[in-house]
Amino acid sequence: MRVSEKVAARLKELGAELRHGVSLADQTSLGIGGTTDEILLRRYEAIPEIMRLLADENIPHKFLGGGTNVLVDDGELSFVVLHLPSTTPGMRVEGNAAYVDAAADLGGTVTFCAKRDLGGMEGLIGVPGSIGGALRMNAGAYGTQIGPHVREVELYRAATGEIETLRGSEVRFDYRHTSFAPDDVMLRVKLELPSKPFKEILAGIKVCNEKRRGSQPLNQKSAGCIFKNPPGGSAGRMIDELGLKRHRVGDAMVSDRHANFFVNVGHATCADMLKLIDEVRERVRTAYGIELENEVIVWRN
Ligand code: EPU
Repeated sequence: MRVSEKVAARLKELGAELRHGVSLADQTSLGIGGTTDEILLRRYEAIPEIMRLLADENIPHKFLGGGTNVLVDDGELSFVVLHLPSTTPGMRVEGNAAYVDAAADLGGTVTFCAKRDLGGMEGLIGVPGSIGGALRMNAGAYGTQIGPHVREVELYRAATGEIETLRGSEVRFDYRHTSFAPDDVMLRVKLELPSKPFKEILAGIKVCNEKRRGSQPLNQKSAGCIFKNPPGGSAGRMIDELGLKRHRVGDAMVSDRHANFFVNVGHATCADMLKLIDEVRERVRTAYGIELENEVIVWRN
């Protein structure tokens, strides 16, 4: 989607940067996705005005974080993408509190806090993505989730059209799901983390890194786990038991390392990946009577 000259001029006045014809394949860890205009939100204060402009002009939009948990449609996209610039995201520690911009890298934040003797997030070290995305999805791994550490979130709230600060207790953090609205834009977070000596945190980080390296296809293009685990079960184990590792549609393939990771081994399209997801879901439904739910967020045209 290409925005009009009139909208482009207004965005410029509002301090946003507009990029035409950006490829989402270049911005997502799956390496899949068509092209559209991208709006870089350089001034947080202008976000409410920008959202009003998009609503007034009937411009559909989606907000892209780190691009590590999203499967984007092929071709010319019917929506624009909003993005927070990630060049110098703020991170600051004060006592046991860490104040972090949503555009900051999750792993980078874990390390930054560790160096200041703040732990509790070791399990999240290898989870790719931004702090904003981690908040929205309540990212988790190896027994750690980000939700319990959240004390405050500054965000653009779609419900009020304003920038607000919510207390952590006002947000529901469930398994890979939160009470944030789809149109809310995470801006900053205050985390509260337990004091721990750097060396101890580092030892925990190393254990998680080794586990992850041993079980996940880290050097391939993926969006992490494709399906949520069903209550009490493991999507990866079920798919593996059905012998579906290496099953492929075009260049979209079930990883031979971890069966809940679907990888792009070449030039997979969104259509390939969606077909693979459907085929695997169907096989699991038939064999186990369980309907697997997507963990990856799908952006259809
Ligand atoms: N398993 C298999 N075959 C496979 C994959 C897994 O038999 O191909 C078995 C394992 O041996 C293990 C069980 O299934 O007994 C669970 O596997 P694993 O420990 O790898 O954890 P998971 O439940 O598949 C979850 C998260 C991951 C997170 C890991 C580590 C979900 C959907 N996945 O995976 O998160 O990294 O635990 O804590 O909750 C993600 O969110 O994208 C993600 C990758």
